[in-house]
Amino acid sequence: MKVAVTGATGLVGRHLLRVIAAKPDWMPIPVSRAFLDLRETDRIVPFFLNLRPQAIIHTAAVTGVDACEAQPDLAERVNHLATVEITKAAEHLDIPLLYLSTDFVFDGQKGRYREEDPPHPINVYGRTKWQGEQAVQQWEKHYIVRTSWIFGVGGKTFFSQLPHRIQQGQPIQATTDQWSCPTYAPALAEQLVRILEEGLPYGIYHLPGEEAATPMEFVETLQRTVGVRFDAVPVPREKIHRAPRPRMTILENHLLKALGIWVPGYSQFLRKFWQDAVGEKRRHIP
Ligand SMILES: NC(=O)c1ccc[n+]([C@@H]2O[C@H](COP(=O)([O-])OP(=O)(O)OC[C@H]3O[C@@H](n4cnc5c(N)ncnc54)[C@H](OP(=O)(O)O)[C@@H]3O)[C@@H](O)[C@H]2O)c1
Repeated sequence: MKVAVTGATGLVGRHLLRVIAAKPDWMPIPVSRAFLDLRETDRIVPFFLNLRPQAIIHTAAVTGVDACEAQPDLAERVNHLATVEITKAAEHLDIPLLYLSTDFVFDGQKGRYREEDPPHPINVYGRTKWQGEQAVQQWEKHYIVRTSWIFGVGGKTFFSQLPHRIQQGQPIQATTDQWSCPTYAPALAEQLVRILEEGLPYGIYHLPGEEAATPMEFVETLQRTVGVRFDAVPVPREKIHRAPRPRMTILENHLLKALGIWVPGYSQFLRKFWQDAVGEKRRHIP
């Protein structure tokens, strides 16, 4: 099966390419900005019709929550309008489309969210990702998979960047009033591919790591697990973020877990994450 992966240079995209390439009879088709800039929405349908994939996994997005707030037009174009076009392409080709979405489609008031809970985003990132979800639902053969706080070597998020910042001796500030489920990118990619491989019923799914934490709890667990000493300063979320953040968005995985698809909690991946991050840094020393 030829699977096109948008966001091929991103954290999840890179792991998806690796997982797909390892499957007999599967072939990943990386779709990166160099081939298709998603701001050029007119190019999207012809691009995919020419490529003729047998499935699309759409991970590309403007993912910086504060960047989306600063550039709402860009977020709207890439996260929403480009997704409209990718959906049209999937429909033309009559192929499944898997769209990676986020816990930030919720406002955080309820705290724990099931797949059927109504979204109510409170920032531009969440709103444009939810618009993306609504676009994808126009094509019957869709999977919308919501996850949260993805981390892994080479990622751009607070969690992904921690080993590098700790090793550089940079000050660490972590919020204590935000709860969600950190999700390890390599493990997430494995499970995402299973959704396509096993031909699950189309629909909306939650696929977070199975353990909730605040960013400060993540930092403290990392300290304990790898035995590295550094100072972390607790801060409230409005002090360090430009865009409003939901207070608590713990995604509950009811549907996929019943089918044996779930991602273990973040704490069991921290040792490997740290070792890989340190090894990555060593490889870059001339
Ligand atoms: N990161 C999280 O904590 C998190 C949590 C929940 C859900 N998600 C969702 O999961 C997905 C993957 O996240 P990630 O962490 O892997 O993101 P990431 O590392 O920030 O990667 C984003 C990807 O999107 C691409 N992209 C952005 N603008 C583009 C454009 N105009 N044209 C073509 N490609 C463009 C980037 O390409 P360049 O490398 O060229 O910029 C990059 O490959 C996203 O849809 C995100 O909304 C993420």
